[in-house]
Amino acid sequence: MTLIDSAVSCGTSSGTGQIASIDTTIDLGRSMQRVAKWSVGDSETANALIHGDNLKALSLLAQAHPGSVKCAYLDPPYNNGESYQHYYDSMGHEEWLLAVTARIEQIRALLSDDGSVWISIDDSELHYLKVAADGIFGRVNFVGTVIWERRTTRENRKAFSRNHEYLLVYAKKIDVWAKQRNALPLTDDVKSRYKNPDDDPRGPWQSITANVQEGHATPQQYYGIIGENGKVHHPPKGRCWVYVEQRMLQEIAANNVWFGKDGNSVPRLKQFLAQRKTGLTPETLWRAEEVGTTSTAKKHLLDLFRETSLFDTPKPEQLIERVLAIASNPGDIVLDPYLGSGTTAAVAHKMNRIYWGIEKGEHIKTHCVLRLRQVITGERGGVSGPLGWKGGGGFAFFRV
Ligand SMILES: C[S@@+](CC[C@H](N)C(=O)[O-])C[C@H]1O[C@@H](n2cnc3c(N)ncnc32)[C@H](O)[C@@H]1O
Repeated sequence: MTLIDSAVSCGTSSGTGQIASIDTTIDLGRSMQRVAKWSVGDSETANALIHGDNLKALSLLAQAHPGSVKCAYLDPPYNNGESYQHYYDSMGHEEWLLAVTARIEQIRALLSDDGSVWISIDDSELHYLKVAADGIFGRVNFVGTVIWERRTTRENRKAFSRNHEYLLVYAKKIDVWAKQRNALPLTDDVKSRYKNPDDDPRGPWQSITANVQEGHATPQQYYGIIGENGKVHHPPKGRCWVYVEQRMLQEIAANNVWFGKDGNSVPRLKQFLAQRKTGLTPETLWRAEEVGTTSTAKKHLLDLFRETSLFDTPKPEQLIERVLAIASNPGDIVLDPYLGSGTTAAVAHKMNRIYWGIEKGEHIKTHCVLRLRQVITGERGGVSGPLGWKGGGGFAFFRV
């Protein structure tokens, strides 16, 4: 039996934070057959690998547990005509689109009001899928299209070297999601922009503009600011000062305004690193150096699957980590109905999310189970290092 209730955590030991509680009671064992032989670790775990066709599994889940999933990540076959070692990727266009949209409809029912869905796709089907997904979620709930740089080398055998693919992102309810989605942590690059040229005891700071567009300006926002060396500064044409004069004088007295090293420059406000409360707003361009490439992912799999065959189309753990960092919190349920080599489950496990991974191929046993066994015993690859992953937890295996 797999049980989640407000008192039960998923029992992992990563240092990534608190386990959020869930007030629904979810028992996958009511609708699916649990297979003890392939289940590993903690018997009270809420994590599930589900072997079988994802449409059937999704409709069972949607009937039994609507509104329970915080983040769904889908990496369907892209319909590119290839025949990979572990699955075929060749369907008629109409048939492919119908198959994927039938799954997305079930997923919409599974999402919580603050949930989102992220769909990996390439150029061939992106635009058709966007129109179909708009029909399911409503155009208003389209969050955006992320571009992922999947390779950094040039593919010279093709007319165009396709170095990127996409993630189509939808919210169940955009207003709710936009308020709740997580910001990304400050990068070293961003932190390095904070300096301390005046040895301010409050620590490193960066200067930001002190003037704004005059759209809703009041007359009190137009005045001259006398700089340290007596020079008078007026706002540039079409702009006004961000504060009225009295407030600006207070900020100058509190050493919160910077007139440059020589005291003659246009005044700017000091923004301190220590006081910065918000992280970074996610951007739509995801570079290989930040989230890895297909080849990064394959190198990782070479370490994981030494005694079995390599999986052809894995995603790098860093890419999935970014999705889950934005769209979920510890203890939330993450769903991947096209599990492949188990990347989403492995990353969700390391990030203390609860996961439901569905895969129809036999590689759910030969690859996903093998991979997660290693994760449970403290596997060191992928995102383990940055997350401080040390091992623990478990998963239950189901058949539909
Ligand atoms: C592109 S791969 C996913 C790769 C995965 N993201 C990873 O990092 O390894 C797509 C997977 O979906 C599986 N799949 C395709 N159709 C399916 C279906 N109807 N039900 C369940 N799994 C399916 C395939 O067997 C394949 O393993």
